[in-house]
Amino acid sequence: MAGPGAEQLVCVTGAGGFIGSWLVKELLQRGYVVRGTARDPEDCKNAPLHALDGAKERLSLYQADVLDYRSLRPAFSLCDGVFHVASPVSNDDPVGSISIEVVSTAVEGTKNVINAAADMGVKRVVFTSSYGAVHMNPNRSPDQTLDENCWSDLEFCKQTKNLYCYAKTLAEKTAMKEASKRGIQLAVVVPSLTLGDMLQPTLNRVIALIVASYMKGRKRFPNAVAAYVGVQDVARAHLLVYENPTASGRYLCIGDVLHRSEFLQMLRELFPQYPITNKCADDKPKVKPYKFSTQRLQALGMEFTPIRESLQKTVISLQQYGHIPILPRMSAL
Ligand SMILES: NC(=O)c1ccc[n+]([C@@H]2O[C@H](COP(=O)([O-])OP(=O)(O)OC[C@H]3O[C@@H](n4cnc5c(N)ncnc54)[C@H](OP(=O)(O)O)[C@@H]3O)[C@@H](O)[C@H]2O)c1
Repeated sequence: MAGPGAEQLVCVTGAGGFIGSWLVKELLQRGYVVRGTARDPEDCKNAPLHALDGAKERLSLYQADVLDYRSLRPAFSLCDGVFHVASPVSNDDPVGSISIEVVSTAVEGTKNVINAAADMGVKRVVFTSSYGAVHMNPNRSPDQTLDENCWSDLEFCKQTKNLYCYAKTLAEKTAMKEASKRGIQLAVVVPSLTLGDMLQPTLNRVIALIVASYMKGRKRFPNAVAAYVGVQDVARAHLLVYENPTASGRYLCIGDVLHRSEFLQMLRELFPQYPITNKCADDKPKVKPYKFSTQRLQALGMEFTPIRESLQKTVISLQQYGHIPILPRMSAL
């Protein structure tokens, strides 16, 4: 098949996850021969991968755990590039409590992936970070526009018990250090909270917390601001940085920044029949939004999908897979 990926062999770690599966779909569409890793390729969540266009001819799944260096070698052998997406995703909500395992898997897993890639002769790695590695810093001014030079403060992440952001910050720094030691070309995609239609029946943690819980009647929302992006945009960003030979370093992949009240208002407008709360968990002044610059990614050709569209697709997916009840629109009256 002709296309930008023709004759290129690439591997995606965590291929059956929410973002991983969209990346596999986009890679197949562009003609790549794709390997995907999963800890259990037979798990039902990986089945939809086999139904993707081009999967029959150009997709194979490999059993690998990022914590087991040896398991990664066969999957990376002869690959031109590796997309390291796999990571335990925990709670991005500031009130969440997170296990220490998230940190060791993210950091040790990343070390193993970069070293296995280097040992197998892979030249280029794209690492999926998170904006949790960017904005968790108590010393930044609310008026500052955050860009690729901004890093989350590890101590602050620990103090606020946000070990997911701690893990992603440390994992991204580990990726940079190991890649530079091993002569790997590294590009990092830094997405914010990701929405959109799900290719697999399993529900990921972010959508469960940020969307499904409110559709199911969660009583209050935190006085918090978050940034959102569509899953197809995230997959496209991975391709843009991979296919551009001069792309290296970090690329923020962030669409809209919204206070949770604005986010829920959008959800209410789209789906008025659901009991979506309008009660904030505190009566303090509304937390101010912050700004991100996505100029680096836009310079590579990125155009962001309106978040309203991705939010609508998220809810339709939740309904289709039975994660939330389907309520008829009239029942809101
Ligand atoms: N979703 C978001 O809003 C968001 C935002 C910013 C960044 N990210 C980043 O994007 C990536 C994917 O997130 P997602 O939302 O798509 O999560 P997801 O659906 O939960 O997928 C996570 C993937 O990680 C894999 N994984 C976890 N532990 C593993 C291990 N020990 N060995 C191998 N694979 C392991 C899982 O694979 P198996 O269980 O199949 O082995 C799964 O496919 C993560 O790096 C995350 O930090 C996500």
